[in-house]
Amino acid sequence: MDIIKLGDPLLAEVRGVDLTKPLDDDARAAVNEAFLEHCVLVFRDQELSPADVIAFERIFGEPQIHVTKKYRHPKFDELIVMTNMNKDGEVDAFESRRGLGWHSDMCYLDVPAKATVLHPLEIPEQGGDTLFANMYLALAEMPGELRKKIEGKRGTFRFGGRSKDVQNRLDPADRDKPLIEHPVIRVHPETGRESIFVNPIHTVGIVGMPDDEAVDLLDEIYAWCGQEQFQARHQWRMGDTLIWDNRCTWHSATGDNPLRQRRRFLRGNISGILH
Ligand SMILES: [Fe+2]
Repeated sequence: MDIIKLGDPLLAEVRGVDLTKPLDDDARAAVNEAFLEHCVLVFRDQELSPADVIAFERIFGEPQIHVTKKYRHPKFDELIVMTNMNKDGEVDAFESRRGLGWHSDMCYLDVPAKATVLHPLEIPEQGGDTLFANMYLALAEMPGELRKKIEGKRGTFRFGGRSKDVQNRLDPADRDKPLIEHPVIRVHPETGRESIFVNPIHTVGIVGMPDDEAVDLLDEIYAWCGQEQFQARHQWRMGDTLIWDNRCTWHSATGDNPLRQRRRFLRGNISGILH
């Protein structure tokens, strides 16, 4: 097995692994170590069934079932289908916006997802890339003045975030979920490293801070963390299997799909731990 670093801030490729076959203990340990070091791993040329994707998840932990039922896989509760199509199989403007904007997955739960796995079923000929950003690095390089303003603060989170407009477009069962709190600077339960955990899509405010002040401070954090030097881009190929660490990264779809072609992925999440 070889681990090839693809991006300076994060992202590495794992070569020499066939994910349709079980990995031995040494290989599992090496993959887990690479995951913690590089935050995002890509395995190329893997033709995986839904059951293979779930087996891949189990290298890293227990699959976590997504809160929304709208996109659940018809046969496997552990998976959801990420697609830009509506029920009639047409590329749809609302569904095309899924995954746009910097966020981490399931940060709006008491126990946010440890990781997310994506495996493409259909991808456009052009565009449709996914961006990742390293929130360890964004915090490590943050100016002291900004860091001082966020030390000890807690963010509030909700599925779909603060926008009324977005809330209204969610499935009724997914709207107006309770607010959940997490530290703005969160300590990673495995590496012990600190990173920024608030994000522009799912964070609503800051505990104990008037709304307008909280929005200003969050915008300042996002302006810093959203800089290109913390980012890496993944251009999808069929057969790619990606896993990323939601505890220390942001990700965003680019929405760039000039031919308006179908985009469809299997997605799984891996449970985090309460800490
Ligand atoms: Fe996401």
